[in-house]
Amino acid sequence: MKIKPTKRTYESDDIVVVWQPSLCMHSEKCWRGLPDVFQRDAKPWVNTDGADDKRIKEQVDMCPSRALSAYWKNQEAENSFEHADITHIEVSKNGPLIVKGKIKISDSEGNTEIKERNTALCRCGASNNKPFCDGTHNKIDFKG
Ligand code: FES
Repeated sequence: MKIKPTKRTYESDDIVVVWQPSLCMHSEKCWRGLPDVFQRDAKPWVNTDGADDKRIKEQVDMCPSRALSAYWKNQEAENSFEHADITHIEVSKNGPLIVKGKIKISDSEGNTEIKERNTALCRCGASNNKPFCDGTHNKIDFKG
């Protein structure tokens, strides 16, 4: 297992959208919900001019894997994150385990990564980015 955290940011005047592709479970909620902002075939794929910032934040908050997050520029990023007292694990139908809360993941080489929010872990066994879900469960029509 090799953990490669990546993070990309997209900014407007007031908001910063953060995308962590390694967490994405390809629910398609973003580009189906706000196609003028989340343009899957464009580069960059996030166009913060496509809607007002409040609407972008609302859509980002619907991301089930939390691969997308957003914070207001006039706030510290950490302040916009909700912290829970307990870690909650949710089994998504035909998809990954969604771990909600702060966790520490270690690989076989001793590399560790702290996840502060929601993390989608592969449950189908077919992800190319284990232990994280990469959406392959959709391609293999995983049931469970
Ligand atoms: S559960 Fe999503 S790739 Fe395995």
